[in-house]
Amino acid sequence: MTANLGHDELLTFDALMADTGRDMADALGCARDYLTATPRAGLLASVGQTIDAIPPAQFPDKRWFQRSYGRSVTDKPDDLLAGHQLFYITEQRRLFLDCTAGHYQMTWGYDHPQLREVLLDGIQRGIVWDNHSNVPAAPVKRLAARLIELANPGADLARLQADDSKLNTVLLGVATGTAACAAAMKITLKHYAGEKANEGAPVFVTLDGNYHGTDLFAQRLRGMWPEYFTNVEIVMVQPNDGRQLEQVFDQYGQRVAGFWAEPIMMNREAIVVEPWYLQLARSLCDQTGALMTLDEIQTGFWFPELLYMNRCGVEPDCLVLGKGLTAGFHPLAAVVYRGRLDTLQQYDAISTNGNAALAAYLGLGCIALVQGEAEHIGQVGEHYHERMTELAADFPDLLVEARGEGHMSGLKFRQVEDALGFHRCAVERGLWLRVHAYHEGHSTVLTKFALPLDIEVADFAVTAMRQLLEQRPWQ
Ligand SMILES: Cc1ncc(COP(=O)(O)O)c(C=O)c1O
Repeated sequence: MTANLGHDELLTFDALMADTGRDMADALGCARDYLTATPRAGLLASVGQTIDAIPPAQFPDKRWFQRSYGRSVTDKPDDLLAGHQLFYITEQRRLFLDCTAGHYQMTWGYDHPQLREVLLDGIQRGIVWDNHSNVPAAPVKRLAARLIELANPGADLARLQADDSKLNTVLLGVATGTAACAAAMKITLKHYAGEKANEGAPVFVTLDGNYHGTDLFAQRLRGMWPEYFTNVEIVMVQPNDGRQLEQVFDQYGQRVAGFWAEPIMMNREAIVVEPWYLQLARSLCDQTGALMTLDEIQTGFWFPELLYMNRCGVEPDCLVLGKGLTAGFHPLAAVVYRGRLDTLQQYDAISTNGNAALAAYLGLGCIALVQGEAEHIGQVGEHYHERMTELAADFPDLLVEARGEGHMSGLKFRQVEDALGFHRCAVERGLWLRVHAYHEGHSTVLTKFALPLDIEVADFAVTAMRQLLEQRPWQ
């Protein structure tokens, strides 16, 4: 029995949420009940509307946030109140269809009933939330084993463990994708220092428009902070330009330390990096002794094959996973890499709260669900992409094409103003989607639906987008 420490009154919802608590608890409860009790058709019919069944309430504002996160919003904040699967309700009681799975990380949407059961079951069984990484709990070790199995489908695991040339090592002690990417960058630099130190400054070949996290070096890979880095060269190439890639490898030869790619560039207008291009990069890396890293922080756990590397038939030297791995519960990330590259020391790449057993247990549940639903995920993803492709073909004056694959898609507009206007009107309509329009030439509306997407919701979303393209209310 837990001792009652006598602090019960300090730990109520009302007390924790300060003055806004009571109102907010009611609003939250009603929003959750509305989302869980309303049939799917009713939810779709109400997308974009204010839900009067939920009482208005006061909410904390963002006055202490940094400016780029909405510090100026002090009156009537309208942030997220409650979510369920693909839908969420804002503090001002508007219902949204979330077309981007949160921030591309909620693999199964909000509060997936079976994953919630997995979580509660894990807590009941005594799985800890986090602990020291020197004594990893069973779910963390089990998750490491599952990631190795996924990266080596059908392999004989006993032989795999002894084979240092294979993807048989996992770094799991990192909380975010950025930290996992940084680890893979350090592995690449260490490998270069060990094998090619006499060649001169290492060269990282990256794709123009890449995004491998918010760390300093990751940002250097996309062109930022050049004045602070010496003795390393970044060469950016255009995705799917095989000739340019060959020229770059020809020019820098042994100096190429690493090639980095995100298979579907969700940070650059959903450009699909074609399998043949990734295969070419693989063979150029082999010829020059460079390491190839696939950043699957976006693509991982979003396709029937679970890992995109298995879809495109390319085995990288380092595979980076994050986001969808734990379905948005507690961020965990991982690098799966060849045993011979196991050169980092424990504290070279670690998040001290990245050994989260409960999150790892949820990650195992997420993987099991993707495997169990693989056929459905494949069918719905294909259907959605086909419908988006038709949409692009039907409005050639506005749209160049539909990009992406499966649940991840981009609608490339001809004019940035139209992309921005469409985005604004779609959000007003209740479709929460994103737009890439902040770099010159970018004009793409992005979606990445969570995996509970079905044909009915996919068709609803495409129809709503079609109506906007017909009516063009922003023009
Ligand atoms: C491709 C890719 N790499 C790396 C990251 C960084 O991951 P995190 O935000 O978990 O640090 C992201 C995040 O959006 C990403 O999309």
